[in-house]
Amino acid sequence: MPRPAMLNATMNYIGSKHSLLDDIAALLDEQQVPAEGRALDLFAGTAAVAQLLKRRGHVTYANDWQYYSYVTGVAFIEFNSFPKFETLLTDGLWGGEIRAAAGAGPIRSYSIEGRGSLPAVQPCGPVLHYLNRLPGRRGTFYASYCQGGEAGRMYFARENGLRIQAIRDQVEDWGSAELISPREKAWLVACLLESADRVANTASVYGAYLKHVKKAAQKPLALVALKPIPSAHPAERHRVFCQDGLELLGQFDPGELHLVYVDPPYNHRQYASNYHLLETIARWDLGQFEPRGVTGLRKARELCSNYCLGSAVESEMRRLLQRVNSHYLLLSYNNEGLLPPETLLALLEEFCTEVRVAQIHYRRFRADTDHAKRNYKADHTREFLVLGRPKTRPGCV
Ligand SMILES: C[S@@+](CC[C@H](N)C(=O)[O-])C[C@H]1O[C@@H](n2cnc3c(N)ncnc32)[C@H](O)[C@@H]1O
Repeated sequence: MPRPAMLNATMNYIGSKHSLLDDIAALLDEQQVPAEGRALDLFAGTAAVAQLLKRRGHVTYANDWQYYSYVTGVAFIEFNSFPKFETLLTDGLWGGEIRAAAGAGPIRSYSIEGRGSLPAVQPCGPVLHYLNRLPGRRGTFYASYCQGGEAGRMYFARENGLRIQAIRDQVEDWGSAELISPREKAWLVACLLESADRVANTASVYGAYLKHVKKAAQKPLALVALKPIPSAHPAERHRVFCQDGLELLGQFDPGELHLVYVDPPYNHRQYASNYHLLETIARWDLGQFEPRGVTGLRKARELCSNYCLGSAVESEMRRLLQRVNSHYLLLSYNNEGLLPPETLLALLEEFCTEVRVAQIHYRRFRADTDHAKRNYKADHTREFLVLGRPKTRPGCV
């Protein structure tokens, strides 16, 4: 039975597993994978599955080499409750000014647990209200990417572009002055990314902007509070990494990780180019590169993934599966991926025992509607969920 994609989803992220979370949880439960030990979401993207693993009771690690994903992971996974901003709010200059901005209506909150309102008692509320009320300002981001900017690109409507510039500049200044910790800074940046994405003037991804400002992009940006997932192990540290997945795996001893979840890109669409704008807002490093071409891409070949290259994907996946030495491996892949299902399953049989395969039908991700140059073959597509036990785990003979 085909399932609706992107149920209660946030960002329209290519390959997001928001709509498959119930299936993933069901497979882990059915196969009696103990909800214990450390679980690593190696290609975390929106951190949806990392959130699920943390809710399930694992000490959770998340990784993705895109920095926008890293800050999102920090918000949901490293934090166990909303940040407190103690230094900022007790600062003689800033404390009073920020508290004066409080009480300006509810702030919406979001995690895979659902949408809601930020409780009024949360100290982060006034900080978000303060940022929400900042007057817009001109700057390199506005000039390079927003309506009315010198570059002529239209990823954001004029007012929203000016406000993103002001909010992100302010967060950067607080971070440089050590008024907020690096983790608090990451949380604020993640909240801005989520909120900016909701008013982006694109069909879906950031490979192109629209030539007119669409209705949703005209709505004023309102900061959303990303809701950290509570921890079943508050004494243990949940951690987020930002590096190549294969390299990171090499840093764990056999059996140190209980479960590794592998969800690499499955087609030629590079995340670095489709989400370049989120990466730039996250890194705020516009002084360090010259936006390229009509769409204003970042540096050429930055974070070009081998999983998106037909010529390299099989050897990359082989190297990766060889290196997973946890007690359990969970992998998802699409039936229309660059790696044919037979090749993938043969690799899994080579490196794992007790391989179980579940197939889920769901609605295809669409970056835009069909047109003369793009005519999708079918409305539905199949996702494989594979659970196995790596042969390199401790105790496997
Ligand atoms: C299919 S998406 C993951 C989606 C995620 N499970 C979710 O629900 O949002 C694949 C992710 O792999 C990341 N990625 C691609 N190559 C990588 C690499 N070599 N190391 C680490 N991350 C990589 C991309 O940035 C992207 O976020």
